[in-house]
Amino acid sequence: MRIETLVDRVKTHRCYSHPIFHNWARVNPGTEAIGALFHHIRSFCDATRPGWNLPEGLKQIGLPTESHLLQEIVDSEENHGPELAMMAGHIINRSVPGKALFDDLSDQAHIESMLKRCSDELLGQLPGYDFATGLMPQTKKAIHTFEARKSTAPQDVYKSLGTALALEIISNRQLIPGEKACLIDSGLYRASFDEPAMHYLLEHYGETGAECQHEQNAIEAVGSVLSAENSTAIVQGADDFLNNLEALWDLLDATLLQAEGSRAAA
Ligand SMILES: [Fe+2]
Ligand SMILES: [Fe+2]
Repeated sequence: MRIETLVDRVKTHRCYSHPIFHNWARVNPGTEAIGALFHHIRSFCDATRPGWNLPEGLKQIGLPTESHLLQEIVDSEENHGPELAMMAGHIINRSVPGKALFDDLSDQAHIESMLKRCSDELLGQLPGYDFATGLMPQTKKAIHTFEARKSTAPQDVYKSLGTALALEIISNRQLIPGEKACLIDSGLYRASFDEPAMHYLLEHYGETGAECQHEQNAIEAVGSVLSAENSTAIVQGADDFLNNLEALWDLLDATLLQAEGSRAAA
């Protein structure tokens, strides 16, 4: 298998062209729905940042260059949680006319607890909803994809490489552009890249953004190791990620955006 074939596999998966963010822009969800959406997005994104034992596992199977490429991605993701919470708080403030809900956008814990309360309120009745974490089975499954990074078994290392490739392509080409489309381009929140509270998006977006560099690193790392022996595990890691995130996007879309849309239309 060639790396181009694998990249195409990601780009033709339904996750890659999922309409969730365009539906967000179209539907103009209420403040609680925005909070719930951000709760699941940030819980998922949190799980994608730590490298765990993946860089070490790559070294152990004789792939120091690939280890370095993955470590660079992990290092650049450090401490992105506070900025994502800040952006979420800022968007929520802009979603309500009048007084801002959050007067301190650097209070990550406070913002994140409000996001979880929105999720509890709107999604708590879904089967398997966990009130301790505010997560649904679909969120947990998407998060669980990254557990393989804790293992240094060669099969898990190759799976994690496939997951990293799919993650970085999706981040660079679906998730971050999708957030820009609904948070900035939609005009719903009068938000722009110039605002300090939107720095998260500025840092991640576009040809000079972090995700573009991550994508290049991931393609380089996977492209240099892909072989007949490991391609099954690598494809499995990519597919697991895409299928699990697609299921999460579908659920959030159906419960928080389609419902709002039909309410608005009624
Ligand atoms: Fe990040
Ligand atoms: Fe990334």
